[in-house]
Amino acid sequence: MSKRRRLVVANWKMYGRLTSGLVLARDIAEKAEAARPLNFDVVLCPPATLTWACSDALMGTPVMLGGQDCHTATHGAYTGDISAAMFADLGCRFVIVGHSERRHGHGEPSELIAQKVEAAQLAGLTAILCVGETAAELESGSASEIIEKQLKDSLPQNVKMANLVVAYEPVWAIGTGQQPSPEDVAAVHRTIRKALGEIGPSVRVLYGGSVNPGNAGALLAQEEIDGVLVGSASLNADGFWAIAEKCQ
Ligand code: 13P
Repeated sequence: MSKRRRLVVANWKMYGRLTSGLVLARDIAEKAEAARPLNFDVVLCPPATLTWACSDALMGTPVMLGGQDCHTATHGAYTGDISAAMFADLGCRFVIVGHSERRHGHGEPSELIAQKVEAAQLAGLTAILCVGETAAELESGSASEIIEKQLKDSLPQNVKMANLVVAYEPVWAIGTGQQPSPEDVAAVHRTIRKALGEIGPSVRVLYGGSVNPGNAGALLAQEEIDGVLVGSASLNADGFWAIAEKCQ
C-alpha cells in the first residue's frame, strides 16, 4: 500500500459533448457518493467546454475537477488559450500539464511546461506534471535519463511540492494497450522520487498509459504507485470506478 493518499485521475481528452459528458460526470459522482467515505482522491479532467457544467454537477460530491492544460499567463491576448486562474474560477483544483499529447502534438518544450507548472501553482491549483519516454528512447536504453531530464527541466525554481503530482506516462503505452510491467513502473517511480530530492517523499507519483480495470490492480499492488491517470477507460463510469476502487 502506498504511503500517500492515492489519487485516480480521469483525462477525458477531447471526448464528451454536453449531454454525454454530463451523464458520465454524474454517473461517476454517484459511484463516489455511494462509496463515501473515500480513502483516496478522485479527479475528473473533462474538455474545457464541459468544465462549468461538470463543476455544477460535481459540487458537494467527493469528486474533484481539473483542467487538461493551461497557459503560462494569467490573462492576455492569447486566442484559444485558457489560464490556470480561469480554471480555478470554475472550481478546478488540478490541471494536467506536459502531457505527451502537448509535448509531442503541440511541440511544447519542458521549459514552457515549467512555466505552466508555476502558473498553475500561483493560481492555487495542483499541477499534474506528465513525463515519459518514447518507444525509441526506451529502445535506446536512455529512458531513465530522459525522464529525469524532463522532470528537472519541467519544474520551476520555486516549485511548491505540496501542489505537485507527477504522472509517469510512457508515450508508447498511451492508447496502445501496451504497458511496462508493474515492477518496471515502480522502478521508474523510484527514479522520479529520487530526482525530486528531499521533498520527493510527499509528492504523489501516478502511472498512466493503457490503464484498465484488468491491469489496475497489479499496478496499484506496487507501493511506489500512488495512483493512476486514466484516458480511454475513464470514458465509461463502471470501468473507471472499477479502476478507482483499486486505489483503496
Ligand atoms: P489511455 O489510458 O487511453 O492510454 O491514455 C492515457 C493518458 O494519456 C492519460 O493522460
